[in-house]
Amino acid sequence: MQKRKLGKSGLEVSALGLGCMGMSFSYGATHDENEMINLMRKAVDLGVTFFDTAEVYGPFTNERLVGKALSPIRDKVVIATKFGFNCVPGGKPGLQTLNSRPEHIKEVADASLERLKIDSIDLFYQHRVDPDVPMEEVAGAVKDLIAAGKVKHFGLSEAGAQSIRRAHAVQPVAALQNEYSLWWRKPEQEIIPLLEELGIGLVPYSPLGKGFLTGKMDESTKFGEKDFRGQLPRFQPDAMKTNRAFVDLLNDLAAKKKATPAQVALAWVLAQKPWMVAIPGTTKLSRLEENLGALSVELTRDDLREINQASTKIPVEGPRYPEHLEKMTGR
Ligand SMILES: NC(=O)c1ccc[n+]([C@@H]2O[C@H](COP(=O)([O-])OP(=O)(O)OC[C@H]3O[C@@H](n4cnc5c(N)ncnc54)[C@H](OP(=O)(O)O)[C@@H]3O)[C@@H](O)[C@H]2O)c1
Repeated sequence: MQKRKLGKSGLEVSALGLGCMGMSFSYGATHDENEMINLMRKAVDLGVTFFDTAEVYGPFTNERLVGKALSPIRDKVVIATKFGFNCVPGGKPGLQTLNSRPEHIKEVADASLERLKIDSIDLFYQHRVDPDVPMEEVAGAVKDLIAAGKVKHFGLSEAGAQSIRRAHAVQPVAALQNEYSLWWRKPEQEIIPLLEELGIGLVPYSPLGKGFLTGKMDESTKFGEKDFRGQLPRFQPDAMKTNRAFVDLLNDLAAKKKATPAQVALAWVLAQKPWMVAIPGTTKLSRLEENLGALSVELTRDDLREINQASTKIPVEGPRYPEHLEKMTGR
């Protein structure tokens, strides 16, 4: 398995990680706990060392699941989790309120360590910037946790440029976790150049466009009541119909490369910068294996130029989040 370093932090992880959220949150389906534990361990056997969870996934079932699966093989893995919300057990995705007060961050770290059954969190992200708490206080709280040995690296998610700079000045940020894929390229405008300047890694989440870019969904796809995608403008039938042009583009290149659209979508992200580590999520072993196959898909300069030229001509239909959630990003 290829390894990558997240910016200048020294944190080295497998070039593809595994997003664990969908195993117990956001996409509605219930999955057998033992099956998910086996999936995570199989991922480790296949060379994956980077696992992503958050306090708010569940809450708090996903951290517990990850803890059960990975604490017995803790020395082989890098575990990332996130703070930043007031979590109500059983709360719905998108309805938790922000809380990054320093004392809360410290309580969350202790609770996450207990649920994950480990002594130190490898990468602790602020899930969303809290406008009520100065970033210096957030970074200061994580700095204290690092000094206490409870956390190894500091991360942010969907933070704006000024917040990244302010955080990094107090406690170096190892990684920013942002949505990034052929379907959501906004980070290229300001954020990716900033990360390059500061030596911060990027961890693209939803690199498969929450499943859409794999070609396994179309306008006839019905989302269950508990599937968060049913609330997202981009996943409404008309939007999916228009956005299908992205899947067609990936399909064309996949045929040329003898790969699948999911593999090309991931290879495209990984080809952008050597300090990017995508974390596709899946609950199925066959898809995990397929996704890891992206590491063998080589996109040439010509391929990348072709995708860029073609994709910039395709208008993206529908915002990625409803307004109240989009407002929580880029601050
Ligand atoms: N920081 C944040 O705010 C934030 C937000 C969202 C997500 N995340 C993190 O990022 C991780 C990944 O993002 P994501 O789960 O939103 O989106 P994603 O990785 O783009 O897509 C996951 C979806 O694609 C499906 N899928 C995966 N591989 C596939 C394949 N080869 N063919 C067909 N379908 C496939 C999965 O279904 P199956 O399970 O059925 O395979 C799942 O529905 C999450 O697990 C989470 O850890 C972070």
